[in-house]
Amino acid sequence: MKTLITNIRYLAGIQPRDRFRIAGQAMRQLEVLENAWLLTDNDRIAAFGGMDTPLPPADNTYDAEGGTLLPAWCDSHTHLVYAGAREGEFVDKIRGLSYAEIAKRGGGILNSADRLHEMSEDELYDQAMVRLNEAVACGTGCMEIKSGYGLNTADELKMLRVIDRMKKTSKVKIVSTFLGAHAVGRAYTGRQDDYVDLVVNEMIPAVGGEGLADYIDVFCDEGFFTPEETRRILEAGARYGMRPKIHACELASSGGVEVGVTCGALSVDHLESASDEDIHLLQGSTTIPTLLPGTSFFLRMPYGQGRKMIENGLPIALASDCNPGSTPSLDMKFVVSLACIYMRLLPAEAIHAATLNSAAAMNLSADYGSITVGKKANLHLTLPIPSIEYIPYAYTRRITRQVWLEGTAML
Ligand code: NIG
Ligand code: FE
Repeated sequence: MKTLITNIRYLAGIQPRDRFRIAGQAMRQLEVLENAWLLTDNDRIAAFGGMDTPLPPADNTYDAEGGTLLPAWCDSHTHLVYAGAREGEFVDKIRGLSYAEIAKRGGGILNSADRLHEMSEDELYDQAMVRLNEAVACGTGCMEIKSGYGLNTADELKMLRVIDRMKKTSKVKIVSTFLGAHAVGRAYTGRQDDYVDLVVNEMIPAVGGEGLADYIDVFCDEGFFTPEETRRILEAGARYGMRPKIHACELASSGGVEVGVTCGALSVDHLESASDEDIHLLQGSTTIPTLLPGTSFFLRMPYGQGRKMIENGLPIALASDCNPGSTPSLDMKFVVSLACIYMRLLPAEAIHAATLNSAAAMNLSADYGSITVGKKANLHLTLPIPSIEYIPYAYTRRITRQVWLEGTAML
């Protein structure tokens, strides 16, 4: 089945087949074709060209009516599977408590773990699918989803089975990450060493044995897991082929980047408190620094140094961090706006970070994240807009008109 999309005002995010990430100064240049058509053949992009060139034959035609066509957003860091919202903590934060103080009182992640324990797998799946479909309506086509609200073996497996079911039933390309070391489970309060033993000796073999996770994560930060504990957990995960994607330097520059880089992490994420030394370590690595400005916005924390990272030649990625505690939003367009406004990324840089580089942060950029012949047809069509820069500028305007995932129209 061939579909021809015509009258595209700006076809943006064109990349050659062999570019899997984009770093430093090159991020400034967003490749755009004006007044274009694009042809999909089943699930792949088959061709594109200018409206002044001959249109190829197709089974059906879709008139974009002057809209802009981009690669669908890639959201490389989410906690999309969870049991209910935590708006009570939102009010606690307004009253003056910090995220870390709420966690210390047994709220936060442990609060979500208690609720997830009570919820059936079917209900968790249903709630998460509602959110996933909302993400699609915002233009997202690839997503990483973490466990980490189980915090005991059975509940971690429950979460990962839900993610596995989502992988099989959704058109969104999903990758899964095991995050047993998100916090110390309630049954292990005061016994962090024993909890790390449980993660290493029981959870990882169970998860790895069932092949339920593509990646492994640890919340390596002040008040959570130390770099030494993180390294031990990542090495155990590596024995089951789970590559690291870790939470690092959200609350402090606490050694997470160094562990990530030396363990060959695909990405180190958050980095709100990353130091110049951390940036230096990233320069000598293939690890992708992933920034989550939605978290800084919601928690009123410093923003990661995206501008400086780009100036230092790094290929930064952007993701939502969607979760009930620190970022109850999955809107990648808003993430792009925040990166422009607070990190001083140029629109082109932020769009690259939220498409090709965030695909790379899931190891998916060979097939996703750009307009490239042969890649999957994961496409995001906007209403007619005056320019690419308008996308982050109009920061609350809903501009999505259609989304194709693997060539199928979703809206
Ligand atoms: O990435 N920082 C750690 N984990 C999540 C928050 C999880 C929660 O509060 O439920 C994050 O922000
Ligand atoms: Fe997170």
